Amino acid sequence: MTQVRNVAVIVGSLREASLSRKIALALGRMAPENLKLDIVEIGNLPFYNEDLEAEAPAEWTAFRETIKAADAVLFVTPEYNRSFPGALKNAIDVGSRPYGQAVWSGKPVAVASTSMGALGGFGANHHLRQSLSFFDMPLLQQPEAYFGATHTYFDEAGEVQVESTRALMKTFIDAFGAWVEKVLRD
Ligand code: FNR
Repeated sequence: MTQVRNVAVIVGSLREASLSRKIALALGRMAPENLKLDIVEIGNLPFYNEDLEAEAPAEWTAFRETIKAADAVLFVTPEYNRSFPGALKNAIDVGSRPYGQAVWSGKPVAVASTSMGALGGFGANHHLRQSLSFFDMPLLQQPEAYFGATHTYFDEAGEVQVESTRALMKTFIDAFGAWVEKVLRD
């Protein structure tokens, strides 16, 4: 029987109609049977402030515990000003402390970036990879997932109507499924 791996999905956009969120949900629907994707919310996390560690906010603790319990992590983020959004950086920082206890460490991870523009959030994608490198996370390198022109993807039911995009999504999430197994088996 296939062992199901729990994937914590972090969406970099907080807005209700986020296209990144729609992409994350679509990836969840087409994921291989060894992956179960669940979005972990980051919009409620107080800004990281080391002074608060003495009595960590309940939202930080809950977030840290949720990530700790996950087998793998998937980031789906838009590009903001050639990088990834501050809310996502805050979540990464919250998960990175106390020092030496980063909840991210060692978990297999993949990054998908999004933009309504043509470049598919390349800048966000690679800035995010830079931050993750500090946690020694085994990161899926290929296929790279730069989702551009995201406003053209979805029909009214929220389904991906662009065939080439659907194919890239499927290739990406299947590769992540294989990557998670490989990392967790070794
Ligand atoms: C953007 N956007 C954007 N797009 C891009 O390709 N490169 C960029 O540097 C930026 N910068 C940027 C800054 C800010 C503050 C906003 C609000 C937007 C456009 C952005 O990628 C686009 O609106 C996405 O659709 C936002 O993602 P969600 O909310 O749809 O997931």
